[in-house]
Order: sequence, then C-alpha cells, then structure tokens
Amino acid sequence: MQDDHVFVWKAMLDLVGADMVGRRVLDVGCNGARRGQAVRRRQVRQCVSVTAPSGAGRLREVCEAAARGSFPSPDWTLEIVARPQRLAAAVLAFTGHHLVAADIDEGDVRRRLDPDDVAAPFNPVFLAWLGRTLNARVGHIDVTLARLGSGDGDDWLQPVTDPPDNERVRRARQVRSDVVFLAPPGRDAVVALGVGLGGRRELSMEIAHETDRGRGEGTRLVRAAVARVPADEAVFASVAPGNTRSLRCLLSAGFHPVGGECVFWWAGP
Ligand SMILES: CC(C)(COP(=O)(O)OP(=O)(O)OC[C@H]1O[C@@H](n2cnc3c(N)ncnc32)[C@H](O)[C@@H]1OP(=O)(O)O)[C@@H](O)C(=O)NCCC(=O)NCCS
Repeated sequence: MQDDHVFVWKAMLDLVGADMVGRRVLDVGCNGARRGQAVRRRQVRQCVSVTAPSGAGRLREVCEAAARGSFPSPDWTLEIVARPQRLAAAVLAFTGHHLVAADIDEGDVRRRLDPDDVAAPFNPVFLAWLGRTLNARVGHIDVTLARLGSGDGDDWLQPVTDPPDNERVRRARQVRSDVVFLAPPGRDAVVALGVGLGGRRELSMEIAHETDRGRGEGTRLVRAAVARVPADEAVFASVAPGNTRSLRCLLSAGFHPVGGECVFWWAGP
C-alpha cells in the first residue's frame, strides 16, 4: 500500500516535473498563460505544491532552515501548501519567495495576483481577498525573527499555571500547542513558549505595565526564555514592524529577522 502510494506520487511528480518535496516550478504567468504562449506582461515564476501532503512539513522546513541562515531561493517563486493546524491560513514572505498555506484553489490564487508585482502575495489587497475567501480574520503583517536556543539554562523564569488573562496569553493558547507560561518572581510579566506555525517553536512576551517597559526587562525576559531552549533548536517570534520597542528588544536578545508573515484565524461569531 505504502509502495503503491510512493509509486503514484513519483509518477505524478514525473508527469509535472516536480521534485520530491512536492514543489513544481511552473513557467506560467499569473494570468494563466501557458509555456510558449505570448504573455503580455512580465511572467512571474510560480512554484506550487502538487498535492501538499503536509503543509506543516514544508512550513517548518523553510522556517527552520531560515533560522539557521539558509533561505529559500530568491527567484520570486510562490509555493502553495496546505493550511497549518489551528489556523485558517498563513502567508509567509522571504526574500524573493512566498508561501501561501491555505486550502484554496491554486488557479484562484494565481488569478488574484498582479503579474507585474512580484511581491503581490504579501500585499494587503491579496491578504484581504484571501481572508474574505476563507471567511477568516486577517492577522497583522508581522516581521518574523528567529534565533537558536542558547541552552544555557536559567531559573529566573518559573512556569506559571495562572498567567494573566491578556490578549497575548489568549492568542498563545489559541494558535499554539504545548504552551508553557513563564514569569519572573515578583514581577508582572509573562513569556509564552509553545509550538506554533507549522510546528515551529514560538515565543511571545508581555510586561504588564507601561512604567516597567523600556528599561531592559524585556531583553532579560527573552534571554532567560531562550536559555530554556536547547542550543540547537530554533525559536521564532513575530512582531508588528511598527512595534519598534519589541523589535529592538528581540534584536538585543539575539534574534534576527528572517522573513515576514500574516496568519489568518477562523472568523468568530
Ligand atoms: C515588548 C516588550 C516585552 C519589550 O520589553 P521592554 O522592557 O520594554 O524592552 P527593553 O527595554 O528590553 O528594550 C527595548 C528596546 O527598544 C527601545 N525602545 C524603548 N522604548 C521605545 C519606543 N517607545 N520606541 C522604540 N524603541 C523603544 C530601547 O531603547 C531598547 O532598544 P536598545 O536595546 O536597542 O536600546 C514590552 O515593551 C512589552 O511588554 N510591550 C507590550 C507587549 C508587546 O508588544 N509584546 C511583544 C509581542 S511579541
């Protein structure tokens, strides 16, 4: 049964000229013109998953590699993979490369993209269309940052079972599994560490009071959380580009920008 599956899978790949991670580079313009046909506008090469056996697998593969400094090819390809668990969809942007993780028709996606705009998959117009089509809420457009755990160990932060009921804690519970909330003793601050987009490890943090922010506490919190992550394991954080304080805090704690992302939630009642 397994062999049959592999055979069919390989035969499909041969037919479409795809590689074994299920990607296919289509010499097809966004307007759907086929190879060899006259294309009025500049073609955008699109790299599309054929069957998307595991969207999470591909998302994780790309993110984990990026965290280690190995990025997808910057040739303006677009990959379409299955939607991630717990989310309605996600769009990831890297230098010259996009991934749309959504259960959506590839042709519909291609028709919505402006062939003259290589960055179109991360344009708010496309993201809004995707949200409407999936009946999902469009999240923020975030910068994705990553680093490897330091593995140093740190007992300043302690697990808490009753974290504050704030938006960041609720969101962590909604979109991540295996979430651990960590807090420093005697301080109103929390870090959430859990398994998020595509199975990658994610971190978010909040210091409750404005008067306690901007004094180096956030950087200390993040470093202490990263110390609990084994040295060879990647950890990710996503931050709105305008939230400079958070961005700078993460940069100070050794994170690097690796891409951009927008996640979509199921629309609430
Ligand atoms: C994000 C947060 C945890 C950062 O902690 P913090 O203690 O405020 O951050 P730090 O003091 O360690 O570092 C802040 C950095 O931003 C800079 N900064 C401070 N105030 C700033 C401001 N208003 N605008 C831009 N930068 C600012 C600081 O100079 C410092 O940068 P530097 O290290 O290059 O000098 C905290 O501000 C917070 O809880 N914010 C609300 C929740 C939030 O945004 N969470 C992030 C979601 S991932």
